[in-house]
Amino acid sequence: MDKFIITIDGPAGSGKSTIAKLLAKKNGFVHINSGAIYRALAYVLDKNVDREKLANLNLELSLKGNSIKVFCDGEDITDRLQSEAIGRVASKIAQIGFVRDYVNKKVRDLTETGKFVIDGRDCGTVIFPYADVKIFLVADLKERARRRAFETGENFDEVLRIIEKRDKEDSERDIAPLIKPDDAYEVDTTGKSIEDVYNEIMGINRRVYDNRNS
Ligand code: C5P
Repeated sequence: MDKFIITIDGPAGSGKSTIAKLLAKKNGFVHINSGAIYRALAYVLDKNVDREKLANLNLELSLKGNSIKVFCDGEDITDRLQSEAIGRVASKIAQIGFVRDYVNKKVRDLTETGKFVIDGRDCGTVIFPYADVKIFLVADLKERARRRAFETGENFDEVLRIIEKRDKEDSERDIAPLIKPDDAYEVDTTGKSIEDVYNEIMGINRRVYDNRNS
């Protein structure tokens, strides 16, 4: 098997990255978090992104173990990208066509051969329409906010407010809106442990794999 792609999408805080990391780790896949690239652009360029700045940017993605690290001018910035404030700027600049082209190319360049779990908007529709397995995670708004606040150490009410706004913006935007691909499997993570969600997704993977080989 030269190439196998699992895509994971869903709203902010639905558990995309957590489950993608676990799937990659337990099955020897590489996890690519495409949102991290938008976040890196937001962190480095803020809202003032233009074609020239993007062309001159020295942003590199490097595979490290089961995941990717983001470097800017040779410096590892991966751990500085998690705040909701950066998430909101990322969501804004992710609406610009040439920014999406830049990120999509970076992701495709990394995934020529190998086994990958990729999470992020439109990875199951635009970047990898022929992905082997597509998962769409959903979860109750409050639970998503709780998870994010726990992860980032930010205030729950503030995170709730920002996520609600981001959900609306992500769903209503014209370019790459938050939508479930027709052929994706929806998995509701509300009230479920990470192991439960993992097992559910592995069950789906197995069914797809068995169907293909029967
Ligand atoms: O998933 P994460 O919260 O890191 O993504 C930050 C924002 O980047 C999302 O709210 C979304 O608007 C945008 N994004 C996107 N396409 C992707 C990944 C993320 O538009 N493939």
